[in-house]
Amino acid sequence: MSLLDGKVALITGAGRGLGEAYARLFAKEGAAVVINDVGRDDQGRSSAEAVAAAIRESGGRAVAHTQDISTTAGGQSLLATALEAFGRADILVNNAGILRDKSLLKLEEADWDLVLQVNLKSMYCVTRPVFAWMKEHGGGVIVNTSSTSGLVGNFGQSNYGASKAGVLGFSNVLALEGAKFGVRVWTLAPAALSALTAPLMGEEMKAQLAPEHVAHAALYMVSSLSGTRTGHTLFASGHSIRELKLVSAEGIPGAGYHGGLTAHDIAAAEDKVFRSEAALTIMDFAK
Ligand SMILES: NC(=O)c1ccc[n+]([C@@H]2O[C@H](COP(=O)([O-])OP(=O)(O)OC[C@H]3O[C@@H](n4cnc5c(N)ncnc54)[C@H](O)[C@@H]3O)[C@@H](O)[C@H]2O)c1
Repeated sequence: MSLLDGKVALITGAGRGLGEAYARLFAKEGAAVVINDVGRDDQGRSSAEAVAAAIRESGGRAVAHTQDISTTAGGQSLLATALEAFGRADILVNNAGILRDKSLLKLEEADWDLVLQVNLKSMYCVTRPVFAWMKEHGGGVIVNTSSTSGLVGNFGQSNYGASKAGVLGFSNVLALEGAKFGVRVWTLAPAALSALTAPLMGEEMKAQLAPEHVAHAALYMVSSLSGTRTGHTLFASGHSIRELKLVSAEGIPGAGYHGGLTAHDIAAAEDKVFRSEAALTIMDFAK
């Protein structure tokens, strides 16, 4: 018995990179997979079609969906494709994402809008119809892709970071809304080599940061191995897998309890208002 026997998984942006690695592993574990991607190779061939064909050739079940998931029509047709091909929608991985990196003063409105549209609006467009189906059919698991660039910040990525921190907010709310319907929701902050970074890496680094390592974290999230867990955020790379969560400082009583509280009182109590450890930076995830 494999981990995902009888399950149907929808994966956005699965024509290459992390999404392709998730699709191949989920199919190996018995899931039927719907491979979404708008990407095409130099000859104009669909990357989603190519991945779906390769999975079928190795004995798995897969279909392609080639529409843009940042539109409501694309989101609805992704669900329709899954239901038409396989009759179910048990797992959704919102993985498709793009970069348009520039520091804020060089960032044009079009690059802000496009990144927010693809990385964040897609969460609404795809998840809404799939969540509705899961709610009516006994539940499911949804993985939303964030990034340490948004969770801790990274220079030159204000549009990308805003979209990826928005994904965490979306997941936090969806975990609450899904709980009573058996819909589990995860946030995944991955790190792996990508089409952009692979040519710059040596063979050893490539092996360490292969997307296949992250795929095992995604499999854990969507399978029964994670039980009833929901609402968590995992960082996952070939270097480490670990939960990221918000923690609070001890704090001081606010003005409602302590009528005389002033800005000077806050300054005098900084040891309680702030936590003493250094904040995480992007470099903490590079090892
Ligand atoms: N690679 C990393 O280290 C890393 C780090 C943090 C977060 N992420 C996130 O993980 C996800 C996958 O990253 P990757 O490195 O595999 O990227 P990738 O560029 O290799 O793959 C993303 C895929 O999404 C597809 N896509 C883009 N816009 C789409 C749309 N509107 N509709 C359908 N498909 C679309 C692309 O064609 C591409 O095939 C992204 O959300 C990315 O932001 C990656």
